[in-house]
Amino acid sequence: MISVLLVDDIPETRENIKKLLAFEDQDFKVVGSVGTGREAIKAALEFRPDIIIMDINMPDMDGITATNEITKLVPAAAVIMMSVQTDADYLKKAMQAGARYFLNKPVAPDELYGTIREVYKNHAPFRQQAQQMASMPAEVVTRKSSVQTEEGGVRAGHIVVVYSPQGGTGVTTIATNLASGLMKKNIKVLLIDADVQFGDVGVFLKLQSQSTILDLVSKVEDLDTDFFDSVVSTHESGLKVLLGPQRPEFAQDVEANPRAIASIIEKVADAYDFIVVDTSRRLDELLLSITDIATKIVLVSTPTLSSIKNSRFVLDLFDKMNYSPEKTIFVLNRVEDERAKNRVTIPSDVIERHLKRRIEAKIPDNEPIILSAVNRGVPLVANVRERGKSPVKELMELSDHIFNMLMANEEEEERKNDSGAKKSGIGLRLGKN
Ligand SMILES: Nc1ncnc2c1ncn2[C@@H]1O[C@H](COP(=O)(O)OP(=O)(O)OP(=O)(O)O)[C@@H](O)[C@H]1O
Ligand SMILES: [Mg+2]
Repeated sequence: MISVLLVDDIPETRENIKKLLAFEDQDFKVVGSVGTGREAIKAALEFRPDIIIMDINMPDMDGITATNEITKLVPAAAVIMMSVQTDADYLKKAMQAGARYFLNKPVAPDELYGTIREVYKNHAPFRQQAQQMASMPAEVVTRKSSVQTEEGGVRAGHIVVVYSPQGGTGVTTIATNLASGLMKKNIKVLLIDADVQFGDVGVFLKLQSQSTILDLVSKVEDLDTDFFDSVVSTHESGLKVLLGPQRPEFAQDVEANPRAIASIIEKVADAYDFIVVDTSRRLDELLLSITDIATKIVLVSTPTLSSIKNSRFVLDLFDKMNYSPEKTIFVLNRVEDERAKNRVTIPSDVIERHLKRRIEAKIPDNEPIILSAVNRGVPLVANVRERGKSPVKELMELSDHIFNMLMANEEEEERKNDSGAKKSGIGLRLGKN
């Protein structure tokens, strides 16, 4: 049963939706129906609904303000905005407030049912997290398991998303090197190109394949290991890579189902220790559905005004979406030598003060080394001879930092479980074979 709270200042609208939901018997149960934002907050706290259908324009307190509050107070509840306002500005505000979806009024019954089920499904990790909050002090990311490893075991399934709101800052460079750097003995890593329009992981790694993420998107619902494995490419270093569509126009098929990539990741996560995701600069539903399920987000910026300004915006958005500050790792790329004359970029201490964030890695600017690696189709960090050189050294340090951060947690969990401490479903699944 999916419990639903209806929020709309027009009683007839609420009544109509209630009727629509009643027609679709089994699934839905309307647990409350209120007419203002303020009442919505009270009702959300009281009824703890799975889904809240929220109007925007209401007297007393509008739906966006209410959503902002509710997503903080009751993170287990997923808000679906429903409005006659179709303005992009409203959509953006709703997303920033933490809404999971935006429906236009009036809504067709099937669209309503489908959206509620989809949002409910995608919000599962938040519900589980809320349930287990009390017994689990450490930050643990939950995910649904389904596809098993060939060995039948379950792996750590850490999802590391590399993102920058600005193009050309080095996201693909960092993602490929991170994935390569995380590959250690007995550790399985998958690199996914989720820059569906202009992804160039294939170019960086000199990989070509007819099989791409497109083949999976249409089959998300019943994805099995064998089929998934047949689509994944293998780089000569052994790294597994899920390539993006071959041509920009093919991206439409992925964008038509923006949550598909997140669903694919959730389904295969247990078969890998790390899944590294390369993304495009676009801040859309596709991206947010992936950052939602991420264990860590590597936010990449360059020391330039526009890049820092955009990063500020993204950090604020992540805050509003209730991501814990530790979820984001802030990385500065293309850092010039601080002693160099004629420096045009902003010093890192100024950036840290402005963003109130620690820079967790500084990758020096070194075009020749980076380009020569791309030309050879080998991630920099895979080249042992160059390990001591910048920026290879720093890229390697970044992947070791992330590895230690996540795998230490992992061992901690295992120890707790072994010593007979309270077991949770998630804790159990964290055990590796
Ligand atoms: N630390 C660095 N020093 C010098 N050049 C770099 C560095 N990092 C990246 N570059 C160069 O910057 C360019 C963009 O890098 P990359 O493709 O990784 O960025 P991106 O954020 O993925 O870009 P896009 O928006 O096109 O996806 C490339 O030519 C790359 O060689
Ligand atoms: Mg890129």
